[in-house]
Amino acid sequence: MSNPIHPSICKMYSRIAQIRLVSSHHEVYEPCDDSFALVDALLADQTNLLEHNPRLCVEVGCGSGYVITSLALMLRQRIPGVYYIATDLNPHAISVTHETLEAHGVHAELIHTDIVSGLEKRLAGMVDVMVVNPPYVPTPDDEVGCDGITSAWAGGENGRRVIDRILPIADVLLSDRGWLYMVTLAANDPSQICRLMRKKGYASRIVVQRSTEEESLLVIKFWRDPDTQLDAKKTITNKTIPERVVESLFSQFCQLPFSRNGGSNS
Ligand SMILES: C[S@@+](CC[C@H](N)C(=O)[O-])C[C@H]1O[C@@H](n2cnc3c(N)ncnc32)[C@H](O)[C@@H]1O
Repeated sequence: MSNPIHPSICKMYSRIAQIRLVSSHHEVYEPCDDSFALVDALLADQTNLLEHNPRLCVEVGCGSGYVITSLALMLRQRIPGVYYIATDLNPHAISVTHETLEAHGVHAELIHTDIVSGLEKRLAGMVDVMVVNPPYVPTPDDEVGCDGITSAWAGGENGRRVIDRILPIADVLLSDRGWLYMVTLAANDPSQICRLMRKKGYASRIVVQRSTEEESLLVIKFWRDPDTQLDAKKTITNKTIPERVVESLFSQFCQLPFSRNGGSNS
C-alpha cells in the first residue's frame, strides 16, 4: 500500500480551493454552479493568465472566498508577489472569505464595501485581473442590495442592476492590459453587455458556457482592444461586423446545451 498524501501537501499543491476547506455562514452565498463556472473559466484561461503576469487582482462580491482563493492558488506557483483584493457588501462574507483564504495558506486584502466604493482613486488603472460573479437573477428592484442572503443573487430588473454599476467601474479600475471575467445569465442580455463594453473599447469572448435546467450561464472575458477602441470612436449608425458576430455567437449559445470554449486569444 502506498503512503497516504499528507493534507498539508494537498493544500500546498491544489490548483483551486477545496470545498471542504471553504468556510460558510448561513447568510453567505455558498459556492454554486456559477462559482464553479467562473473558476472553470479561470482554469481554462490559466496559461494566458500566467503569461499575463498580473500584479493586482480584484474580486468584487467574494462571498465564501472560493473564487479569489482559487485564483490565488492558480497563480501562486508561477507568479510570486501578486496582490489580491476582495470586496463584499455582506460583512459575513468578509469573515468567511478570510477563513477560506487562511485555510488554503493564501492572502488577500478584504474590504467590506459596496462594489469598490472608497477604493476608486487607489485602484484606478491598476487592476490587471478583475473577477465578478454578480447578483444576476432577475428580481424586483427592491431586493437588490438588501440585508441578508437575498442580496447575493438579487439583480433587479433583467438581473442588471448591479452588473450595470460594475461595468463602468471596471473600465476605471482596469489597467491598460486589464482583463475582466464576469458571470452572466442569458436573461441579462449578455450581447447587449458586450455592446456596452465594446463602446468603451473592449473586445470580449465567451470562456465558459453552461446550461442547466434552471439557467444558462456564460463567463465572459473582456479586454481592451486597440481595434475595438478605434471602432468605438467611429460614429456609425449601422451595426459593425464584429458586433453582428457577437450577436450571432450569443444566439448560437442560446441553442446550445452545455458547451465550452477554451480558446486562447486574450
Ligand atoms: C452570486 S454571489 C457570488 C459569491 C462568490 N463570488 C462566488 O462566486 O461564489 C454574489 C456576491 O456579491 C455580493 N454583493 C452583492 N451586491 C454587492 C455590492 N453592491 N457590492 C459588493 N458585493 C456585492 C453578495 O454579498 C455575494 O457575496
